[in-house]
Amino acid sequence: MKIILFGGPGAGKGTQSKFISKRYRIPQISTGDMLRTQAKQGTQLGLQVKKTMDSGGLVSDETIVSMVKERLKEDDCTGGFLLDGFPRTIPQAINMVKAGIAVDAVLEIAVSDEQIIKRMGGRWVHLPSGRSYHIEFNPPKTDGVDDETGEPLSQRDDDMPETVKERLATYHSQTEPLVAFFSDMNLQYIKVDGVGTPEQIQERIFRELDKLSS
Ligand code: AP5
Repeated sequence: MKIILFGGPGAGKGTQSKFISKRYRIPQISTGDMLRTQAKQGTQLGLQVKKTMDSGGLVSDETIVSMVKERLKEDDCTGGFLLDGFPRTIPQAINMVKAGIAVDAVLEIAVSDEQIIKRMGGRWVHLPSGRSYHIEFNPPKTDGVDDETGEPLSQRDDDMPETVKERLATYHSQTEPLVAFFSDMNLQYIKVDGVGTPEQIQERIFRELDKLSS
């Protein structure tokens, strides 16, 4: 199963990726998580991209494409993968095709901008794993700590209200045009309503993906 997970910032891609990855035994390839790891480690790439991410803009296509191509060479990707946050621009999608990266379907989680703004304010994340929580809608079992490791949670630097607005604008101008691109590629396009509890959305997604895998 080779899937592109698509949707606006805060649509719930990271949350649902964890469920999908576990059920269908495919790795989640999150470009956002990969970049945040680099930034946290203070690598040259991390220092370069941090400013762009914190401003709500997009990291260069060249950087992203080579990062994803390298990651997909790893053994755990041979049986399938879930691309979370890639491709995000038309040039990235063109390069994906040129590199021979074939996918079976695009899965969109659809959520309105108003709902996204509400969600981002209360997000807390476990940076090492990318697991995310929400103080009201999706709280951890114990306040301030990750359910699985017990390690502390933190807030993302790009979740400031002004940056969220910028990320939404970037999504509408540079990422949404991919919907037409995917349609030209004749890819199976699955759109799931992303409003409801995380469990309800998970059920909707599994119902659709079970059809693909059977
Ligand atoms: P990235 O990390 O990919 O960010 P994003 O796409 O903006 O998505 P998020 O991770 O913010 O949200 P999500 O959809 O995963 O939602 P979540 O599940 O956490 O990218 C960050 C930056 O990196 C970009 O801005 C860019 O600079 C750079 N970048 C990354 N990829 C790139 C690329 N390909 N090209 C160029 N640059 C790139 O949920 C959000 C919140 O809502 C959480 O608090 C969660 O608990 C809560 N929640 C989840 N589900 C529900 C629900 N059903 N109801 C209520 N609340 C919910």
